[in-house]
Amino acid sequence: MLYQSKIAGLGSYVPDNVVTNDDLAKLMDTSDEWIQERTGIKERRHIKEEGENPVAEMGVKAAKIAIERAGIDKDEIDLIIFATLSPDYYFPGSGVLVQDILAIENCPALDIRNQCSGFIYGLSVADQFIKTGMYKNILLIGSENHSGGLDFTTRGRGVSVLFGDGAGAAVISRSDYVGQGILSTHLYSEGKHALELALKGPSTNHWVPEIIKENPQEDIPYFPYMNGQYVFKHAVQRFSEVIKEGLDTNGLEVSDIDLLVPHQANLRISQFVQRKFKLSDDQVYNNIQKYGNTTAASIPIALTEAWENDKIKPGDNVILAAFGSGFTWASAVINW
Ligand code: ACO
Repeated sequence: MLYQSKIAGLGSYVPDNVVTNDDLAKLMDTSDEWIQERTGIKERRHIKEEGENPVAEMGVKAAKIAIERAGIDKDEIDLIIFATLSPDYYFPGSGVLVQDILAIENCPALDIRNQCSGFIYGLSVADQFIKTGMYKNILLIGSENHSGGLDFTTRGRGVSVLFGDGAGAAVISRSDYVGQGILSTHLYSEGKHALELALKGPSTNHWVPEIIKENPQEDIPYFPYMNGQYVFKHAVQRFSEVIKEGLDTNGLEVSDIDLLVPHQANLRISQFVQRKFKLSDDQVYNNIQKYGNTTAASIPIALTEAWENDKIKPGDNVILAAFGSGFTWASAVINW
């Protein structure tokens, strides 16, 4: 027998420290006007004091809220899935740190490295484990510390103005009703574009002392690189395809969408998708204006906020969609 999974609880956490576009303009040659016009972003949060392992710590803060809302005890969690591109350590992953902070004695922890698509990839993995009956409650976290690894000089402005820190979490549980919960997930990747949006080092390919030796001043490859327009073009195409696939798989029309929660990469990307599917403002949830792009955390932060603001009700058709580094892209169709 196959079981069905649902999102039983949601939570989010962002650091208190607000960084406006004007704050960034003091560090690099940029402006509030440029950032808002090209991306929609007004401000983002940057970590100041979040403990020794900020990515795990922020994830735990979001997770505690999600666990409470799911109405379960932390010891009922059968698996932790942690999605991030900015782990606290090269290894081990941040999932085991969460397990330790939450003091969950005996549960496996799995880290997912799929950047902006990480949360939906994690959701799909959780869904499969629940479908087979192996697990009943899975804690899925997306958390990012971008500010710890960005180039806040003019050299890095094409990337560093986009990203913010924060975490979101969901408890995925076995659903009591057939037809309620995660209806389908759709995952894709195309590795030939891997280096169009990448952090090449530190890595085993680019070891830190060698990087510094080879690049005394300029073009240091341990900051993220993004070919912005190339990524943009692929993103709008893949978002559209994977949302359409989700609708078709479940026999849904565009008018059946109660809420689309797209990964918050750029407001212009969300607006392009909204126009393409002729969705009303009420059918799309955006909050990139406040948080920037928080990568694996962006969908669970937006989903939590939408749920808290009563934008999602039982029975609603909610679609999640993401595109990011890899390239990877994904969607999920949920009947709430
Ligand atoms: N402030 C001022 N000027 C800037 C800034 C800045 N912060 N950044 C770049 N510029 C300049 C550039 O140098 C360039 O100047 P030039 O014309 O003199 O050469 C000019 O502005 C235009 O730059 P573009 O890169 O062409 O600007 P574009 O309109 O493409 O916007 C952006 C850039 C916002 C990055 C956009 O391309 C984008 O959003 N791309 C997709 C991002 C995305 O979806 N990422 C995927 C998820 S992220 C993940 O997975 C980790």
